[in-house]
Amino acid sequence: MTTIETLAPAKINLTLHVTGRRPDGYHLLDSLVVFAGVGDHITARSGPGLSFMATGPFGGAVPMDGSNLVLRAADLMAGTSGRGATLTLEKNLPPASGIGGGSADAAATLRGLADLWHQPLPDREALLSLGADVPVCMTNTPQHMRGIGEDLTPVTGLPPLFMVLATPRVPVPTPQVFAALDGAFGAPMPPRPVFPRPYDFIEWLATCRNDLEGPACALAPEIDDTLFALRHTPDCLLARMSGSGATCFGLYPDAEARERAARMLSSENPDWWVAEG
Ligand code: C5P
Repeated sequence: MTTIETLAPAKINLTLHVTGRRPDGYHLLDSLVVFAGVGDHITARSGPGLSFMATGPFGGAVPMDGSNLVLRAADLMAGTSGRGATLTLEKNLPPASGIGGGSADAAATLRGLADLWHQPLPDREALLSLGADVPVCMTNTPQHMRGIGEDLTPVTGLPPLFMVLATPRVPVPTPQVFAALDGAFGAPMPPRPVFPRPYDFIEWLATCRNDLEGPACALAPEIDDTLFALRHTPDCLLARMSGSGATCFGLYPDAEARERAARMLSSENPDWWVAEG
């Protein structure tokens, strides 16, 4: 029996400028996306029919209905071929929290099944039909993301990032956060230095924004508390929300400062999900 394991790392929007809205209601983004060192795991085993189970700390929160992105991705890959697989999702990332969870799981499922079944990946339109973040999650490498998520340019030359992720356990539905923007669109990102030193990169990041931070904090004030706590950890260089929230990230100068901040946040906020990224 063949078994394929794929990683679905957390997607972090270091910046997220919302620059407009399409006639279909989807928003136009200008975002610098990177991937963290923590993530979900997908295991795909050959077998008859498609079956699915979820394990891990957040396994119980994974929907088992038609909204399950692992199953939707598997259906897309199987098409009418009748191919089968047993899929296991180890859910380590808090669901619906602005770090791509479902999209990263869908992307990892597609990659795993493409390997297992020796089959090509779906085209970009099909990826987008699963979710606007699925194309970027297929890459697992830093990307400049535009359009609604389909226009991707690989980004190289970023300095190493020492990141802490913190999620207050509060649900923030993505459509509600986008809707709360209410047409308040902003300018795209300013030009990025090509091979920045760490200090210059953080300085540039500080001139950028996550335009969804205001609307998300208005819907869930716990996000403001999380940003405040991150900003007050020793040596925090920058703190910002990722995606539509509620996960926020802090950036630190080195691994030691990152570890200290993660330890401090976990002990002061035992109900948050905190991870080094
Ligand atoms: O594509 P996905 O299912 O992840 O998007 C969830 C919702 O988030 C969409 O229905 C839409 O309301 C909002 N969205 C948006 N613009 C984007 C991505 C998502 O308005 N670029």
